[in-house]
Amino acid sequence: MSAKGPNHGAPRHVAIIMDGNGRWASERGWPRSKGHRHGVEALRRAVRAAGDMGVEVLTLYSFSAENWSRPETEVRFLLELLRRFIRTDVAELHNAGVKIMMIGCRKGLDPSILAMMEEAEALTRENTSLKLVIAFNYGSRQEITRAVQVIARKVAEGKIDAADVTAAVISNHLDTGGLPDPDLLIRTGGEQRLSNYLLWQCAYTEFVFLPEYWPDFNADLFRRAVEEFQSRDRRFGGIKAQTA
Ligand code: FPP
Repeated sequence: MSAKGPNHGAPRHVAIIMDGNGRWASERGWPRSKGHRHGVEALRRAVRAAGDMGVEVLTLYSFSAENWSRPETEVRFLLELLRRFIRTDVAELHNAGVKIMMIGCRKGLDPSILAMMEEAEALTRENTSLKLVIAFNYGSRQEITRAVQVIARKVAEGKIDAADVTAAVISNHLDTGGLPDPDLLIRTGGEQRLSNYLLWQCAYTEFVFLPEYWPDFNADLFRRAVEEFQSRDRRFGGIKAQTA
């Protein structure tokens, strides 16, 4: 099915900015950590719904390169949540055929977290249903910078000619190399910005901003965002197909 005109099919790749955990909790007089814990439940609902809708790739912004500037207790809590998630959910995801992938900078990460991530990736490497991409210690500018450094080194070593550095070459050197670009980006929590997320990959992505906070995200909101995406006319810089 064509992905160009309105009423096209399910998005192949959905990227999500899971925002609003802290506000969700504060509005209830609860600590922010409770919002993050409920955020993991919403994440599980999102993964299930993505699979049900036939989405091929779901990329979730779980911890940004800038999130280290949060209070140490919150950072520690978020890392612990990720650890717990890997410990408790990977077996079930594996049984469901989900392929887990991590994007973001791995340098300097706690070795025990890194080992858990890499084990989850290795275990699920051959799986062929949903690709679940977890953006952790991720920042798009940092990712592009790393890719440019690798390409520059290859040029300096004569492995590639500068004139052959195309957009496709750059895409393939990003952490998302080999994945299709996101068709749909959903951000919950009411803010309307990208926050250093998939800047290169979102050149032609459709954005849907939801006022709901992430812990309230569910299959129904996901379906509505997909319907909104399906009603959009994607032209990729071209013009609408002409009728004779
Ligand atoms: C944004 O809400 C959310 C985050 C920075 C973390 C997202 C993490 C989770 C949903 C759970 C952990 C993830 C995994 C993979 C187990 P915020 O804290 O910025 O909310 P606010 O804008 O209301 O303060």
